[in-house]
Amino acid sequence: MFVSENLSVNGEGHLTAGGIDTVELAKEYGTPLYVMDEDMIRKNLRRFHESMQKYYGGRGLVHYASKAFSCLEMCRIVASEGDGLDAVSIGELYTALKAGFPMEKVGFHGNNKTDEELAFAVENGVGHIIVDNISELHRLEKIAAEHNAVPHIMFRIKPGIDAHTHQFIMTGQIDSKFGFALETGEAFEAVKEAAASKNVKLVGLHCHIGSQIFDIEPFEEAARVMIRFIAKIRDELGYTVQGLNLGGGFGIKYLESHDPAPFENYMERVSQVVKSECAELGLEQPFIYIEPGRSIAAPAGITLYKVGARKEIPGVRTYISVDGGMCDNPRYILYQSEYEAVVANKAAEERSERVTIAGKCCESGDLIGENMPLQHAESGDIIAVLATGAYNYSMSSNYNRLQKPAVVMLKDGKARVAVKRETLDDIIRNDV
Ligand code: LLP
Repeated sequence: MFVSENLSVNGEGHLTAGGIDTVELAKEYGTPLYVMDEDMIRKNLRRFHESMQKYYGGRGLVHYASKAFSCLEMCRIVASEGDGLDAVSIGELYTALKAGFPMEKVGFHGNNKTDEELAFAVENGVGHIIVDNISELHRLEKIAAEHNAVPHIMFRIKPGIDAHTHQFIMTGQIDSKFGFALETGEAFEAVKEAAASKNVKLVGLHCHIGSQIFDIEPFEEAARVMIRFIAKIRDELGYTVQGLNLGGGFGIKYLESHDPAPFENYMERVSQVVKSECAELGLEQPFIYIEPGRSIAAPAGITLYKVGARKEIPGVRTYISVDGGMCDNPRYILYQSEYEAVVANKAAEERSERVTIAGKCCESGDLIGENMPLQHAESGDIIAVLATGAYNYSMSSNYNRLQKPAVVMLKDGKARVAVKRETLDDIIRNDV
């Protein structure tokens, strides 16, 4: 009935999330409100690590990509499931650390890590640092020597696959700010240097081909390219690369018409490619990492808003204005992303209108979506925007000096605050 399976309609015709009445949540915690279903987050994590178990004998680790949604509570949930974490800044590392996350299960990313960030990662025993470029390698070697440490590293490789075209343009991705290019020999030279380094230990290679990808073929192709590169390294340098991190990017259903491949099929087919390529090349199967972000968090989240104004412009469109917008969800203004929306207190009714849901920021492009099917919405109604659990809270801002909404976490039919709503004093806390 809705894009996320934890959503339903109760006897009062209200939208429920994880069995809880969302109209009641809006009443109790206020709007705008991020609602995250912990049971579903856990279920999504398990789908990944169980399929890793089933199709690859458990010789791998899920590193949840915390850029999708990070807070202390989320780190605790991921830790309690036994999964690892992908962090991309000192802020994400710090959140993990403060949550008591086992830092040896953290992979540290970033195309332009600062010395401060690298030192923080080394000092706090991050599992591996995914080195993006040669100057970072040199800076890290120096920092490692100063700390008397030998950090484990991977290299981020551009495998030359452009997943967004749904075709494999093998050189397409050379123009990317992330990672080392394969086809120019840049990646091989870096591996050669790191393999001989006393200050770092090269333990793996990494690739990430994009986000919100529906097909499995680009992932299979990336795995194939990476395994062949590992074999080339063995053949030409006599060096064994033990780990292969295949990144994230698994698509989710934002709209009924979206049809992403199930995660399990991805794991099955990619494992198959890894195994058969290794068999053919006489290579030991590497330890695999994957970094799902959106597919863990997005379907588990909704955002609740209260409707303020309804503005009908005859022959043009109807604007339904809500008490949030691009500050809590910048994805429409950035990517023209599409979402499903429901009037939570009229969820049993038909979505009889097509409207533009507008935010409250002083910006014409501040929209949640256009031409969206919705029940007849009026002032005071509660609108739920679905599948907003990833890249909404994490990309939110204080534009127009708006306060960031609270995040409420649902578990076993109960709600609790995971992140408090910002206060007006929070808005000025760093002002001097
Ligand atoms: N690993 C690496 C190295 C990444 O760069 C990313 C996402 C992920 C894993 C997780 O990808 P996911 O499974 O979430 O697709 N702000 C954009 C998405 C940016 C993704 C950046 N990297 C959005 O709102 O759609």
